Amino acid sequence: MIYSIVAYGDPVLRKEAEDITDPNFDVKKLASDMFETMYSAHGVGLAAPQIGKPIRMFVLDGEPMDEENLKGFKKVFINPTILEEDGEEWGFEEGCLSIPGINEEVFRPERIKIHYFDENWKEYEEEYTGIAARIIQHEYDHIEGVLFIDYLSGLKKRMLKGRLTNISKGKCEQRYKMRFPKK
Ligand code: NI
Repeated sequence: MIYSIVAYGDPVLRKEAEDITDPNFDVKKLASDMFETMYSAHGVGLAAPQIGKPIRMFVLDGEPMDEENLKGFKKVFINPTILEEDGEEWGFEEGCLSIPGINEEVFRPERIKIHYFDENWKEYEEEYTGIAARIIQHEYDHIEGVLFIDYLSGLKKRMLKGRLTNISKGKCEQRYKMRFPKK
């Protein structure tokens, strides 16, 4: 099932998402639907708030980025916690399926250590660096109610304000199914 992707301006993108605690919650079905939705939009990551669900879960598949260390980097993260985040901050141009048409350089630390469960409720504690860490950091922010534009300078934010308002009203490119807060 392909969900509509929630656009910038929807309050669900600003909520701190809740852990999944119901043992009967079908995480496998939701993960599969989230992958389908993400692939339909040609994204490399998608967090549950982006389909209107304020729960701590995201999926990613870095394969389309064509980086050697992202081969087979397809994963589901449930109830994740970033335990450590360190190393030198480096810049990388990020975009977001909820903020179409805007890409800006964001600086983030190069290494993370993260605790999470997969769709079989198998538990992991892993370290990631580089682009892999970057994709996780971006998606993790979504379940904390944070967007990549939050990291931009005041000047940059002011310059983007009009375009962001337009996105919230649906006045933007729409290459996939989206849902807008203000119609
Ligand atoms: Ni995003």
